[in-house]
Amino acid sequence: MARLVYHGHSCFCLEDEKYQVVIDPFLSGNPLADVQPADLKPTHILVTHGHDDHLGDALELARSNKALIVAPNELALYCQSKGAEVHAMHIGGSYAFSFGRVKLTPAWHGSAVIRNGEIIYTGCPCGFIVEFAGKYIYHAGDTGLFGDMRLIGDNFQLDFALLPIGDNYVMGPDDAVLAAQMLRAGITIPMHYNTFPIFKQDPEKFVNSLKQVNLEGMIMKPGDFLEF
Ligand code: NI
Ligand code: MN
Repeated sequence: MARLVYHGHSCFCLEDEKYQVVIDPFLSGNPLADVQPADLKPTHILVTHGHDDHLGDALELARSNKALIVAPNELALYCQSKGAEVHAMHIGGSYAFSFGRVKLTPAWHGSAVIRNGEIIYTGCPCGFIVEFAGKYIYHAGDTGLFGDMRLIGDNFQLDFALLPIGDNYVMGPDDAVLAAQMLRAGITIPMHYNTFPIFKQDPEKFVNSLKQVNLEGMIMKPGDFLEF
């Protein structure tokens, strides 16, 4: 039995008896997170970009669990310089990990680690297509809408599409509906909303808009999981 678990913002876990693959583990400082870093025991940590609300607790989790960080090259090298074990990849590339294959997709956004006002650029941000327990999961990362999502929809039979809907820094709900139409996943799940007041959204409204174009949407609250 495998599960997709939501921990708030853009943090999801894919887990089974053997693996726990956590994506964008922003837990400390996330007012909506249902768990703290010590509650997770990841084997792999996938990070879309360097912003604090995505890199989050990745370094601490990697060190304390001997977990492997998978990220775009520049971000992976940054994490390595902080003592983490890493697997560097880049957009368009895929690699078969022990739990399944991961492919990096483009994401229109920025990527930097910002410490005490200093900006350390960490290359291009990404999204992930993850194969896990026979399912295909697309985590879009932080991105605006882009037409090549159609290629992802055409080439992968996606079971779950995890799409930001917060607006301001990422797609808003209207663009996320257009994205969902290109991706045509079995279930579309909104993320990256309501964590902070600047990107407050109504996920019910988003799911209703999906229904109007014959797509299934599902709201996951932090702590909710889907079994498959
Ligand atoms: Ni970001
Ligand atoms: Mn973000």
